[in-house]
Amino acid sequence: MLTVSTQGVNALADSYDALSLKVASYIKNQLKVKPDSCLGLPTGATPVGFYQYLAKWSKNGEIDWSRAKCFALDEYLDVDLEESFEYYLEHNLYQYTNLPDEHKFNPKDSSDYDQIIASFGGLDVTIVGIGRNGHIAFNEPGTDKETRTHFVPLTESTRSANAKFFHDGEPVPKQAVTMGIRTILDSRVIVLIANGESKQEIIKEALSGPIGSHLPASYLQEHPHLFVATDFQFSGAQKFELPT
Ligand code: GLP
Repeated sequence: MLTVSTQGVNALADSYDALSLKVASYIKNQLKVKPDSCLGLPTGATPVGFYQYLAKWSKNGEIDWSRAKCFALDEYLDVDLEESFEYYLEHNLYQYTNLPDEHKFNPKDSSDYDQIIASFGGLDVTIVGIGRNGHIAFNEPGTDKETRTHFVPLTESTRSANAKFFHDGEPVPKQAVTMGIRTILDSRVIVLIANGESKQEIIKEALSGPIGSHLPASYLQEHPHLFVATDFQFSGAQKFELPT
């Protein structure tokens, strides 16, 4: 594991590209320091930039994924393969790496995801985005802090935010399976990423407001090794480089 000494530290970047580069560099270094790392990986629009850096470096042979284990944070149920998070991760990252197929994990494939994660020594680094309503992975408002991987109905807010990833007229799934809040909090390091104006308010609320199930991302405040990587300023934020 990397040595980290943080409490509510922030990796502010000047742009989305700089943010993506910082997060990608952090993962690259993590795999150098601990080649058999277990990583929790997000989907959505925000991570695309850092996956592009990782893909580029992996194609160049700069990252060895042969011993890494990658765990998707969540997955839709009843979805066409091309719209699944399994496909997203394959398309944006895995296809460019030498990550063995048997090291790619998705919560829909197992009835005890947390047990599988534990059997490999637990998550070293988990990268999470944040939903407009403060969800992390698919842990919607109201989710208990002690949840492990579980099935969830998706809120209308999340379904409408994610509609952009579906072809016209195609229905957005109503159900998903997601790592629980406790699954995520058990990760040794968590990197919360957010970019753009639409995320400023919810990041501020999540990181400086009351902690509770009304806003699942607020539980991240309690994590001893949380890095917050944003491309905007928010209260309490300061220039900070992700440790390498
Ligand atoms: C989805 C995912 C989350 C992600 C969030 C934000 O609902 N399940 O893991 O963090 O949306 O996505 P985006 O980066 O597109 O804003």
